[in-house]
Amino acid sequence: MYNEIDLDKFDISSDPPTEEPARQYYFMAKCREWVRALEQKNGCRPTAFIQTFGCQMNARDSEKLQGILTQVGFREAKDEKADFVLYNTCTVRENANQKVYGRLGYLNTLKKKNPHMLIALCGCMMQEPDVVRKIKKSYGFVDIVFGTHNIFKLAELICQRLEQKNRIVDILDGTDQIVEELPTERKFPFKSGVNIMFGCNNFCSYCIVPYVRGRERSRQPEDILAELQKLVSEGVVEVMLLGQNVNSYGKTLEHPVTFAQLLRQIEEIEGLRRIRFMTSHPKDLSEELIQVMRESTKICHHLHLPVQSGSTRILKVMNRRYTKEQYLELVERIREAVPDISLTTDIIVGFPGESEEDFLETMDVVERVRFDSAFTFIYSRRTGTPAASMEGAVPEEVVKDRFDRLLTRVQQISSEVCARDLHTTREVLVETVDGHLDGYVTGRMDNNTVVHFPGDSSLIGSIVPVYLEESKGFYYMGTAASR
Ligand code: 5AD
Ligand code: SF4
Repeated sequence: MYNEIDLDKFDISSDPPTEEPARQYYFMAKCREWVRALEQKNGCRPTAFIQTFGCQMNARDSEKLQGILTQVGFREAKDEKADFVLYNTCTVRENANQKVYGRLGYLNTLKKKNPHMLIALCGCMMQEPDVVRKIKKSYGFVDIVFGTHNIFKLAELICQRLEQKNRIVDILDGTDQIVEELPTERKFPFKSGVNIMFGCNNFCSYCIVPYVRGRERSRQPEDILAELQKLVSEGVVEVMLLGQNVNSYGKTLEHPVTFAQLLRQIEEIEGLRRIRFMTSHPKDLSEELIQVMRESTKICHHLHLPVQSGSTRILKVMNRRYTKEQYLELVERIREAVPDISLTTDIIVGFPGESEEDFLETMDVVERVRFDSAFTFIYSRRTGTPAASMEGAVPEEVVKDRFDRLLTRVQQISSEVCARDLHTTREVLVETVDGHLDGYVTGRMDNNTVVHFPGDSSLIGSIVPVYLEESKGFYYMGTAASR
């Protein structure tokens, strides 16, 4: 995407343009000069490494960051032994922060061996003032710190760091800006994530996302469609439309468009075979969307529909704005319209004040819905969120016990549910050669279930009918069926 920018067009001896994205092209050209000089000095091309923590949004951001680094001339490194190391961080739960602190010490030892090395931190964790304070105080070797609102500025920040020779910290509290037409380096040639919106306005009481990702902003439908057209022309057959709450897409646009209307337009793109999206908030999932899913031939029969808790009382304190009954009724309507839909969810255990009774309500939802899979989380207190000051912390051993009971049941149900397509033929998008079995490839069915079957790398990126011979609980072993 937009990787054909001619950086030679930019006169880096003049002042930088003020308009985006021209300004960033200018800084990419400037940064490229530095990379070239370092190459001359070292006799080999400088390398860069990005480590991504967290969700698909971060993964997509990292592709954009990698796009910029490739454009300015860095070669991609396999690990942190590189000239430029960037951690794209997550802060949704405390253990995500701990992982980053844990690895910073290692980066420091590497930097001592390579004085040219630049270390940068970006992403959600950097939007927390306490974190930035701690990094400034105790991690003096970090060169660049930026947040979630200015990832497009990477080249500019590198230039600043090189010119000023001291640490650059650039964190914005929020933004209305969406900069289009920057390079990206996709991980897979045949599938891609595409942001349709940024930020979140829901303020679930446990969640830090609205504070670190800012208010909800939707991209213009024509920009999304143009990006998709371009991706398809480059060989992409499957897209994942990304947003913290895709069901409220378009509400804040000057000419509002619903998510269902956007999907109808995306469906028309010739050559695009599969459409996925996440995440859906149950409170905003419209009848119109259910209809579009029913009629579509491209939208995958998979819905990630986080329930978080089965207790109406807890859901209220979580500020989720639906009840247990409304959630179950929604699931029923979706299943009526799309009977073979695969449903997945997120569940939090140990929210402040959660009683055994509340927990049993969650277990009841799990029994009734029978999710294909569920991501289960222990509640993590996030400073600055309303839940952080709520009373009724659940003792650790009680949380642990509930978590184990939930996980056991979720996994049992999951293995039963996932086996339902056994002995049928399904279309599988081949993603990789199998990492464990020689002569096999690995792909995904439309409902996201993994399938391994005999084949070679020439199949990667194609959609193959596969007969599902054996269910292994969470995945299948199959054989390519004749067309
Ligand atoms: N503690 C535990 N889990 C959380 N999530 C979000 N915030 C927290 C928190 N403070 C979970 C939710 C969300 C998923 C992405 O992470 O289940 O859906
Ligand atoms: Fe967090 Fe709720 Fe927004 Fe999801 S919808 S990102 S859980 S505030």
